[in-house]
Amino acid sequence: MKAYGFFQANGQAQLIERETPTPEGRDLLIKIDAIAVNPVDTKIKASLGDNLDNARIIGWDACGTVIDAGSECNLFKTGDKVFYSGDVTRDGCYASHQLVDERIVGKAPKTLSAEQAAAMPLTSITAWEALFSRMRIWADLDKGKTILIVGGAGGVGSIAIQLAKKIGQLNVVATASRQESIDWCYELGADHVINHQQLSEHYSKLGLAAPDYILCLGDTDPYYDELTDLLAPQGLICFVVTSQQNHNIDKLKNKSAGIVWEFMFARPMYHTADMIEQHHLLNKVSEMLDNKTLKCTHKQTLGAISVSNIEQAHQLLLTGRTIGKISLSAVED
Ligand SMILES: NC(=O)c1ccc[n+]([C@@H]2O[C@H](COP(=O)([O-])OP(=O)(O)OC[C@H]3O[C@@H](n4cnc5c(N)ncnc54)[C@H](OP(=O)(O)O)[C@@H]3O)[C@@H](O)[C@H]2O)c1
Repeated sequence: MKAYGFFQANGQAQLIERETPTPEGRDLLIKIDAIAVNPVDTKIKASLGDNLDNARIIGWDACGTVIDAGSECNLFKTGDKVFYSGDVTRDGCYASHQLVDERIVGKAPKTLSAEQAAAMPLTSITAWEALFSRMRIWADLDKGKTILIVGGAGGVGSIAIQLAKKIGQLNVVATASRQESIDWCYELGADHVINHQQLSEHYSKLGLAAPDYILCLGDTDPYYDELTDLLAPQGLICFVVTSQQNHNIDKLKNKSAGIVWEFMFARPMYHTADMIEQHHLLNKVSEMLDNKTLKCTHKQTLGAISVSNIEQAHQLLLTGRTIGKISLSAVED
């Protein structure tokens, strides 16, 4: 198989040849049709040591075809089209083939191209788990409550806005700082869009009660104080980005409010007993994309997976200004 690997922190990808692996147990062997890129790719790349003996293959968003399955697999068979994010502790998807545990794989949407489908898994898992597993939002109880989604136009925000509206039935306030990203948040169903550069001031001008839920998709440190001040009594904040500073949890005590973390690799990383929930939620997202309840958040395809296209995708991610998702097509033979 072909793969694009990194031998050192922030180095350039290099084309490498590896033996195509044989799947065992619950693993599927996937022939990759398309991938998408995420900020985690550049973060892992930046954290690599120097002069690694074995290249690190990164990338955790893919759509492909099952070409072989381990003896314990019972969810998929050869020929099935699938989409998945994968496991950050294993090789990623900047490759022609990849092994992935079937319990974290979903049926690919039938109505989308491979590039469009590849754009969805990582962000959908993150948004779904943040809203429904970590903050435990449930429309029967929470319908009409308000959620503030900080970073609404990015990959995760773009699907979180839709899930919060369509499944949570919440009043959604998203943040964006440019006309293009503001328009995109409204297109996805946000009820209000405010600028994260003057967040509290703009939130207060909406005339709404304090947010019951906050999903912070920006860096945690610069937002911690402002968001814990803004949150409603008995509310919940979900952070997704590792903090570099210590923060005062007592700030939330008198409000009986809480903080939860979402890390979408937690289930595969710890092999939790419920890791199959990612299979179920991806299937649900796939169905909702096919019946047009959800809009695909794919924005552009840069070409095939290659040294130059990986570099271009990473440069775009590092601007912090991308809207929706960026995909790459399969490695060329
Ligand atoms: N823990 C997890 O499981 C998990 C999973 C996925 C992602 N993440 C992390 O979550 C973050 C967001 O991921 P993503 O894929 O959505 O990123 P992304 O697609 O790169 O986000 C780009 C968006 O961020 C917005 N933005 C830029 N500066 C901002 C700021 N200061 N405050 C709020 N928004 C800002 C931009 O909107 P404007 O141009 O309108 O400013 C842009 O549209 C990343 O750090 C990523 O690593 C964590």
